[in-house]
Amino acid sequence: MAGSRLSLRSRGEPPALRLSRQADALAAAGDAAAAAGLYVRALAIDPTLAGTHNNHGNALRVLGRLDEAAAAYRAAIARGLDEGMAHYNLASLLRQAERHGEADDIFRQALALRPCHAEAWNNWGNLMRDLERYGDAAMGYRHALALRPDWSDAHDNLGAVLYLLHEQGGEKEAAALARWWRRDHPMNPLARHIGAAIAGEAADARAPDDYVRQTFDLFAEEFDRKLADLDYRAPALLAGLLSDESPVPSGTLDVLDAGCGTGLCAAFLRPYARHLTGVDLSEGMLERADARGLYDDLQAVELVAFLASRPKSFDLAVAADVFCYFGALEDVFSAAGEALRPGGLLVFTVEELEPEDGRPYRVATHGRYAHTESYVRAALASAGWAPTRCDRDRLRFESGAPVNGLAVLAERPTRGV
Ligand SMILES: C[S@@+](CC[C@H](N)C(=O)[O-])C[C@H]1O[C@@H](n2cnc3c(N)ncnc32)[C@H](O)[C@@H]1O
Repeated sequence: MAGSRLSLRSRGEPPALRLSRQADALAAAGDAAAAAGLYVRALAIDPTLAGTHNNHGNALRVLGRLDEAAAAYRAAIARGLDEGMAHYNLASLLRQAERHGEADDIFRQALALRPCHAEAWNNWGNLMRDLERYGDAAMGYRHALALRPDWSDAHDNLGAVLYLLHEQGGEKEAAALARWWRRDHPMNPLARHIGAAIAGEAADARAPDDYVRQTFDLFAEEFDRKLADLDYRAPALLAGLLSDESPVPSGTLDVLDAGCGTGLCAAFLRPYARHLTGVDLSEGMLERADARGLYDDLQAVELVAFLASRPKSFDLAVAADVFCYFGALEDVFSAAGEALRPGGLLVFTVEELEPEDGRPYRVATHGRYAHTESYVRAALASAGWAPTRCDRDRLRFESGAPVNGLAVLAERPTRGV
C-alpha cells in the first residue's frame, strides 16, 4: 500500500494535519486501529485532506475493513489525489475483494496517471492471472520488469504465467513472449532457463546455478512433503540397485550424495559409508539434510566443480533426481570419473526422453531435462564408465501423470586407470 506524506511542519500547524501526522506515525509503528481512530478525527475537522483519506484507507485495509477502505480511497480520489497512488490502492483492494471488473478499470486509471509504477503493472498482471488471461498477465509483468529489471517476484510471476499459457494451448504466444523475456533479461537465470524451455530455444548445458539455488531454497521447506505426495521413488530405486549389487553394506566406503537435497538418500547410504559427504547448491536444502544428523560433511558447492576438486576420493557416488538439472552429461560423468577410485560406482536417475523425440536430451517447460537411454549410455561410455544396470521405472507423478525414468548403476573400470 502506498502512503501519502504530509510535509507541513510549522509551529502553527492546523490541528487536522497534526492529528493526521500522529496517525501516520501510529500506522508506521503497526498500530492500525489507533491510527484509524486519529484519521477519523482529523477528517472530521478537515474533510478536504486527500492524502489523509488515502492513509485512512490503508489503515482500514490492514484492519480487514475492506468496504470502508475502498470508500476512503474513493474519497481521496474525489478530493483530488490524482497522481495514481489512491487509484492503485483502490484497485489492489478491489482485486483482493475479487471485484475483478472494477479492479481492472481502476488499475487502468492508475496506470494512465502513473505509467512508471512497476508495482501497479505487476499487480494488474496478477489480476489478469486471476482471470486466466495469461497473455495479458505476461504483458503486465513485462512492463513491470522494464521498470524494475531485477525484480525477482515479477520474473517468477512471468515464468509462472508463461508456463500456464503454454500448458493451456497457447504454445505459440507463450513462445513469442518467452523469446522477448530472454532477449530483454539475458542474465536473469529464470528467463535464461525457463524462457529457453518455453521458447523452444537451446538452453544452457545445465540449469544455471542461480536458478537451481533459488528454486530449491524456495522449495526446501515443503520438499519432503510434496515429493511424498508425488510418490517420489528415486532414492528407493537407487537403494534397490545398490543392495542388489552389494547386499551387505560394509560401512567402509567413502560415499558422496551428489545433489543431496534434504538428504532423502542418507538413510540408505549411511550403512555403506565410512564417511558420508553431501553436496548441493541450495543452502536451504542442506539445512534440512544437516538436521538428519547422518552426514559427516555437507558442502554448499556446485557438483561438477566439487567433483573436479576431489580426485580419487570416493568409492560410491549417488545422484538421485539431480541430472534432470543437467542437459549435457559428458562433463559431470567425466568429473565423476576423476573423483571416484578405480572400481567405484556411480548410481543415478534420469528422466527418460523417448527416442522418437529425435534429440539426445531436452528441457521441458517445468525446467527439468530428460535424456534418451542411448544418449546416457554414450555419455557414460565417452567418460570411461561401464553401465551394468539401466532399469526403466516410474520416478514419481507430475500433474497426475507418471514420470518415467532410468535408474542406472555404472562402474569405474579398474583396468587402465
Ligand atoms: C530434486 S532434488 C533431489 C535431492 C535428493 N537427491 C533427493 O533425491 O531427494 C535435486 C537437487 O539437486 C541439486 N542440484 C541441482 N543441480 C546441481 C548442481 N549443479 N550442483 C549441486 N547441486 C545441484 C538441487 O539443489 C537439489 O537439491
